Amino acid sequence: MPPGEPLLDAATEAALLADARAAQQHAYVPYSGFRVGAALLAADGRVFTGANVENAAYSPSICAERTALPQAVIAGAREFVAIAVVGDGDGPCTPCGVCRQTLYEFAPDVLVIAAGATGAAARYVLSTDLLPHGFGPPRLHASARPPEGG
Ligand code: THU
Repeated sequence: MPPGEPLLDAATEAALLADARAAQQHAYVPYSGFRVGAALLAADGRVFTGANVENAAYSPSICAERTALPQAVIAGAREFVAIAVVGDGDGPCTPCGVCRQTLYEFAPDVLVIAAGATGAAARYVLSTDLLPHGFGPPRLHASARPPEGG
């Protein structure tokens, strides 16, 4: 993220991180033991939280970010300002590739605040820092007509 004005004021960021840490307590992680919490701030001020929920079959496991986002969407929120992601261990827990793509659908320019149990939080803008040249709805709509013979 380029230096300059913070995208979120310090108090809002601290509250969002606290929400993510609270949600992290509800993670179900018998396989990795790595708890993640997320708190997604919608443009209307509502906050939706999530935590990772793992599965004995492994692949149905879902990340914290992707438990928060659908809750927001089904509650009518589709514009987002920021998401705080907090993992165990030292240093920022940055979103995995699937979560980056999932967030990109609704909020390419969302601010991602990543933190760990210890160490400083890091701030990223999704579209520029975490998923440059991402594939989103405008690209799909731009080629709504299938090519000849395709
Ligand atoms: N995890 C998340 O919840 N979010 C991420 O963006 C990174 C990874 C979870 C998935 C799995 O349950 C555990 O962390 C270890 O990969």
